[in-house]
Amino acid sequence: MPSPHPPSAALDESAEDLARERALVERLGASAETDGFVPFDRFMDRALYAEGIGYYTGPTNPLGRLGDFYTAPHVHPLFGRALARRVQQVRDRLVPEVPFRVVELGPGDGTLAATVLEELGREPDAAARYSYVLVERSPSLRTVSLERAQTVGAGAGISVATEEGLGSSGPFVGVVIAHEVLDAQPVRRLVYRREGWQELGVRGIGDRLEPAESRPSRPLPPNPPAAPEDGEIWEHAAGTTTCVRAISDHLASGVAIVIDYGMGAAELRSAHPTGTLAGVRRHQPVEEPWTHPGHVDLSTFVDFTRVRADAARFGLCELAYSSQAEALGRWGFDELLREALRSAPSAEARLRTQLAAKSLLFGFERFQILELAPAGGVVWPIT
Ligand SMILES: C[S@@+](CC[C@H](N)C(=O)[O-])C[C@H]1O[C@@H](n2cnc3c(N)ncnc32)[C@H](O)[C@@H]1O
Repeated sequence: MPSPHPPSAALDESAEDLARERALVERLGASAETDGFVPFDRFMDRALYAEGIGYYTGPTNPLGRLGDFYTAPHVHPLFGRALARRVQQVRDRLVPEVPFRVVELGPGDGTLAATVLEELGREPDAAARYSYVLVERSPSLRTVSLERAQTVGAGAGISVATEEGLGSSGPFVGVVIAHEVLDAQPVRRLVYRREGWQELGVRGIGDRLEPAESRPSRPLPPNPPAAPEDGEIWEHAAGTTTCVRAISDHLASGVAIVIDYGMGAAELRSAHPTGTLAGVRRHQPVEEPWTHPGHVDLSTFVDFTRVRADAARFGLCELAYSSQAEALGRWGFDELLREALRSAPSAEARLRTQLAAKSLLFGFERFQILELAPAGGVVWPIT
C-alpha cells in the first residue's frame, strides 16, 4: 500500500462511482445489526470485496502508478527477479521429477507474476520445471492477472492457471508467494473503555456512514492485549490466520514467502496505540476512510507476532524473518542490480534503475519477509 502523503485526497467521483457507493451503503445497511451498527471487519469486507462494487472487485484496476497505490513489484522488475531467484533455489533443492508449483496468493494486477514468470522462463527447461497458479479473491483482478501472466508464461511455455483456493487441487510441492495480501484482510477494531473492549464500526446516517461504537455482539478475538490503556485500539484480522492455516494445510514441501508491512505486537502497541488503519486514494491518505466505501483502499499493519505464532501452531517452521532489504540481499539482489545496470540502454535508464533499487532497499522499511516451511519436510538453508 505505500505511497500516501498529505494532503488528504479529494474524491472526484463520477455519477457511476456515486451509484456504486450508494449500492454499497445499502448493502451494508442490509447487513447491519438491529441498531444499524456494522462492525468494522464486516464493513471492510464489503467495502473491499462486495461483488462487482467493492474496491478490489469494481470495474477499475486500483493498482499501479495510474491507480491509487503501487507495491514493490510495480517499482522495478528487480523485485520480482530477486523473488524468482529464491523460487529457483527452492526448486533446485527438490526432487526434479516432482511437479513444482508457484502459487501466488492475491496477485492483484499480475505485475509480480509477470516478472517472476519472465525470470523463470529464462531457464532452458522452464516449461517442464514450473507451473504457476494465481489465487485471487477478486474476480475482476483474477481475469486481469491471468491474462497478464498467461501472456508472459506462454513465451516460456510455463502453464498459468487460476484456482479458487490455495489447495483447491490438493496438496502441492513448491513456493507460495503472498505479497501484500495479509494487510488487505478485514480487521475487527476494538477500543478499550472503562467497561471493557468495545467494537468499532460504522453506522448509516441517511446515505452517509459515520464511525460508531457498540458493545461486542461476538466473543472477543483470542489473546487481547494485557493491561490496555483507556482508548487503546486493538486490530485483529482473522483472515491472516486463515491464510497461514491454508499454507500449512496444502503446502506439502517447499517454502511460503509472506511479504507485508507490519511489525511485532509489542512494537505495534507502543508505536500505534490507536491502530494502523489506513485509507488511500490516488496515492494520498484519506482521513475518514469509511466515507467513500468502494473507492478507498483500506489496510492495516500486519501483527507479525500473531502470524508467526499461528505458523508455529499450525506446524510450519520459520526459515527467516527479516526486513525486505535483508531478504533481497539473501536472494541475490546485488548481482541482479549489477546486471541491470550493465545492460541499461542509457545513462538515464541506469539512473532510473539506481533510484528504483534504492527505493526497494530503503523505501519499504516497514516491510517484513517471513519464510515458512512445512515442519518435518526438507529443511531449507536460507541462503
Ligand atoms: C494490496 S493488494 C496486493 C496485490 C499484489 N499482491 C501486489 O502486491 O501488487 C491485495 C490483493 O490480495 C487480494 N486478496 C485479499 N484477500 C485474499 C484472499 N484471501 N485470497 C486471495 N486473494 C486475496 C485482493 O483482492 C488484492 O488483489
